[in-house]
Amino acid sequence: MSDIDEIKTRLNIADVIGKRVTLKKAGRNFKALCPFHSEKTPSFIVSPERQTFKCFGCGKGGSVIDFVMEYEHVDFAEALATLADLAGVKLERRPSDSPEAKLKQRLFEVNHLAGEYYQYILTKHRLGEKARLYLKNRGVTDKTAQTFALGYAPNSWDALFSFLRKKGYDGGLLEQAGLILKSQNRYYDRFRGRVMFTLKDHRGNVVGFSGRLLDPDAREAKYINTSETPVYIKGNVLYGLDVTKDAIQKENEAIVTEGEFDVISSFQAGVSNVVAIKGSALTEGHVRLLKRFTDRLVFALDSDIAGDAASRRGIEIADAAGMDMRVVTLPQGKDPDEAVRASAGLFKKAIKDAVPVYDYFITSAMSRFDHTTPYGKQKVSEELVPILIKILNPVKRSSYVKKLAELLDVTEVSIADKIESTADTFQTKGIEKKEEITKRILTRPEKLETYVLALVLQGKTAEHFEELYEHVTVTDFSQPAVRTIFTHLEKFLKNKRIFLLKDFADSLPAELTPVLDEAYLWDISDIMDDEEKFSREWTAALRELHRVILRKKIRDHGKAIQESARTDESGGEKTIDRLQKDLKELTVTLAVLDKSG
Ligand code: CTP
Ligand code: MN
Repeated sequence: MSDIDEIKTRLNIADVIGKRVTLKKAGRNFKALCPFHSEKTPSFIVSPERQTFKCFGCGKGGSVIDFVMEYEHVDFAEALATLADLAGVKLERRPSDSPEAKLKQRLFEVNHLAGEYYQYILTKHRLGEKARLYLKNRGVTDKTAQTFALGYAPNSWDALFSFLRKKGYDGGLLEQAGLILKSQNRYYDRFRGRVMFTLKDHRGNVVGFSGRLLDPDAREAKYINTSETPVYIKGNVLYGLDVTKDAIQKENEAIVTEGEFDVISSFQAGVSNVVAIKGSALTEGHVRLLKRFTDRLVFALDSDIAGDAASRRGIEIADAAGMDMRVVTLPQGKDPDEAVRASAGLFKKAIKDAVPVYDYFITSAMSRFDHTTPYGKQKVSEELVPILIKILNPVKRSSYVKKLAELLDVTEVSIADKIESTADTFQTKGIEKKEEITKRILTRPEKLETYVLALVLQGKTAEHFEELYEHVTVTDFSQPAVRTIFTHLEKFLKNKRIFLLKDFADSLPAELTPVLDEAYLWDISDIMDDEEKFSREWTAALRELHRVILRKKIRDHGKAIQESARTDESGGEKTIDRLQKDLKELTVTLAVLDKSG
């Protein structure tokens, strides 16, 4: 047995989590308020049977090791070490002894020295004169330069290299740190003639550098950065966080900007709860980091985030993590650096006046398309529906759907319909409240499928499964994973007399486990112990599933009819007749179903 397996068998996930979070029994599982995002009703579920946890609010989940990593903000090896102590397992290797950990330490060390060197040149050396002047012209004080460890890389091929070599570091390590490049067996400095920004992780370890040209006419890239190294992963670094994290925590708000100078100028003007994503989009790593200090983000970026897919993805990630997000409209200048220096007062006011990100999205789309025409309405809803649909909180989501419908002067149903047909292409992460089931069901077919699976697995599995198959066939399910689980379940029930979840889970391919767990950990404790309630819920869910399937078939038929009419070859008429007949039947069935409740 491996260390990992040994630790997992000796520990019970409910005990480990229970020490850190107050768990309440809920049917076969436990539930709690999620420690990873703020919520008022519990959507964090722990299953002793599956030895997993999952939050249906923010989507976090996994094994006991994943929990400790997330909760203690540590990496895999560190989490393993904590749990090994708890389980009384002696690990073969301590994480800090690993070659990877040792290399990281060496890289921090050499980066730290390089940073000191650059700072020395900027502040003390005559070679730093031009850079001192440059910073002065941009309004950066000596004190700020020191706070952010600004430096200057002299315009020389090997200044840093010879400095570090004299200290005893070999070229290979310096190359791995991204400080030195190699060409035709000769080493040379990566950063030459640039103002240097020291990039640190939130603990203050120097992970890399970013360098800006002094000369506005130079034909090189304005900024260059350390290449990715074992300690510098671009999407995990937020510029300034080591300096500004306390202010962020205190204000419970992080202002997210694009560049180094945006952070520096805001900070100097007294707005110190600020970080920069360095021209990239907000990543999952950024969100995870920020989440440690705040759950409120204010975007003060150069570009229109509504027009950019990568930014939208970042917002979706932050929404799933339960972040509240707003967007600043800059009063003057193209970026916060310019705006602050034009008027710190107006900049501060603009931050106060930031609007919720989804309102911003709506305003932006409405201004780019002529929403008085049918075509414009279509464009606006095409852009916004995929964004609004991903808002996790159902109450918030439906209020925005309503708002959009009002603005476009169309019915809410037409937007909801669009959402339903878009649903095939998105993944939902979860729900927040039991009462919202019906609302969720109406807008989220995929969720509904998983919910039906949850009821089958947690209810009288064999009986409910049979009943389900009186209404649907496997191919009706839109999610491949749910489809496959049901196919396996059918086989499993044929061969086994009693249904044991563990046996069933073991019989499934590993890639299906997350979906199985999502269904099995779905919190239905409020209907579990009341047969009548359960049966009402079951009937309602089945009927809704049937409806959704019919609606999808009707849509597909409509498309197929249009398609045949367009291609219209010999026999086309016949196909259309058949399709139209089917369509009519489907419509009648749906109407009957709708009437029946
Ligand atoms: N950036 C980068 N590499 C580039 C260009 C930009 O890493 N080749 C990052 C930098 O962190 C930069 C940010 O993206 O600060 C935003 O770029 P840009 O708006 O072009 O620069 P500014 O921040 O306005 O920089 P400056 O005020 O110094 O001109
Ligand atoms: Mn700028």
